Amino acid sequence: MKKILLALCLLTISVAATCQTKTENVMNNKKALVAYFSCTGNTRQLAKTLAETVNGDLYEITPEQPYTEADLNWQDKTSRSTIEMNNKASRPAIKGKCENMKNYDVVFVGFPIWWYQAPTIINTFLESYDFSGKIVVPFCTSGSSAPGNTDKYLHPSCSKETSWRPAKRFEPNAKASALESWVKGLKL
Ligand SMILES: Cc1cc2nc3c(=O)[nH]c(=O)nc-3n(C[C@H](O)[C@H](O)[C@H](O)COP(=O)(O)O)c2cc1C
Repeated sequence: MKKILLALCLLTISVAATCQTKTENVMNNKKALVAYFSCTGNTRQLAKTLAETVNGDLYEITPEQPYTEADLNWQDKTSRSTIEMNNKASRPAIKGKCENMKNYDVVFVGFPIWWYQAPTIINTFLESYDFSGKIVVPFCTSGSSAPGNTDKYLHPSCSKETSWRPAKRFEPNAKASALESWVKGLKL
């Protein structure tokens, strides 16, 4: 019986050590936040897998006024999303704040592509904190478009002291292994 217990203990320690090493390797011992905005669940699914992969905390960027189906109708020139995306200065309000942002070294920021770029609520998010000395990594989902103008319009919403990484698109059901090799390549 003692031998079985000892074997179980050793197994638990070895599994824990493997998990720890994986995070250390991928994140270079940096603490990660995975912040995301998602209206129809695709980016949420991706953000959850990413948070597990980097052993990070999840934070949902929640609009003060939720987006309705009508708001998201890109074929309607008068819909809320069309109006916001036609106005580079629009900054839709966010409900609440991430209170412990200072604890993170790396902030992954996820969103859906809207009109070949990030929704302007992501500018609101980036302008709500000081990311100086942190690494900001945008990631996105889309119907098919590449990140396009994402970096061009988002990067200026952070201070010059922010270390920026180029935005990367994934399928919502991207595998943890694919996310892990991307994160490794970021050389955090
Ligand atoms: C207003 C609006 C504009 C969009 N523009 C694009 C686009 O330019 N290119 C594209 O591939 N998909 C576009 N999409 C599709 C979304 O990027 C895609 O469905 C995304 O995965 C949704 O993410 P979510 O479920 O996290 O909200 C758009 C969707 C909306 C609502």
